[in-house]
Amino acid sequence: MLTLHTIADTRAQVRAWQASGLRVGFVPTMGNLHAGHIRLVTEARRHADKVVASIFVNPTQFGPGEDFDAYPRTLERDQARLADAGTDLLFAPAVDEMYPQQNLSWVDVDQLGEHLCGASRPGHFRGVSTVVSKLFHIVTPDVACFGEKDFQQLAVIRRMTRDLCFGIDIVGVATEREADGLAMSSRNGYLSPEERALAPQVYAHLQQARAAIEAGDTDYQGLSQRLTESLESAGFRVDYLDVVNAETVAPATPEDRALRVAVAARLGKTRLIDNIPVAIVRD
Ligand code: PAF
Repeated sequence: MLTLHTIADTRAQVRAWQASGLRVGFVPTMGNLHAGHIRLVTEARRHADKVVASIFVNPTQFGPGEDFDAYPRTLERDQARLADAGTDLLFAPAVDEMYPQQNLSWVDVDQLGEHLCGASRPGHFRGVSTVVSKLFHIVTPDVACFGEKDFQQLAVIRRMTRDLCFGIDIVGVATEREADGLAMSSRNGYLSPEERALAPQVYAHLQQARAAIEAGDTDYQGLSQRLTESLESAGFRVDYLDVVNAETVAPATPEDRALRVAVAARLGKTRLIDNIPVAIVRD
């Protein structure tokens, strides 16, 4: 696996592959990789001849007081994992390479970023859309893979890719879970042993929500309130636990058929997010 740190070198390598007719798949990450990321690489491989991954902890998607400085930088270990998974090229730029001067140009996707994480992390999705656009312009992939764990991010990126005519296929990949149901995340490493023991409650509550909706509950606000209270009494601070339309990410109505129940909850200093799809089959 080739590791490149500059935009110019990365462009030159990808252009050479594409000029010889090869299809390029892309997996953007912030590093500290786990099995969920490796699954993205495996999926990209299925869709492409060459797989490019990036590792860049993007400052513009972190708010003041968030974990930008603490975010684990584990480049050597990540390189070994990516190489083992069959990645062809790793693009690992420094902050100055991606943001050589004050950034004045932003990509902002209206509406989809307003709810859920958008409400509790103002500016987060503007930072994500902007850096993913920059990475798309640098890597010019044919296909890019993103995890469904960040379901709202995936919706924002799909929409941005369509609205701005990137011409890139966006593939969503199912969430990889620990044996007890906890969604794999680079931030799980922040959990103390006691918090780690509680953390699977997040997915357990999502499963309860899905069971209730499948059994006919359409009082989504009431359901969300009950489950929020239950998580809070287990020791979490809940940013949101909402039933939303799977495509628009807006609060679900009883007419919607494709839903997601999404949650963000804090345990100590760790913010855990997760979501579950619910398809309603009713007359
Ligand atoms: O999901 C992530 O790791 C990041 O938000 C992404 C897509 C790499 C952009 O920085």
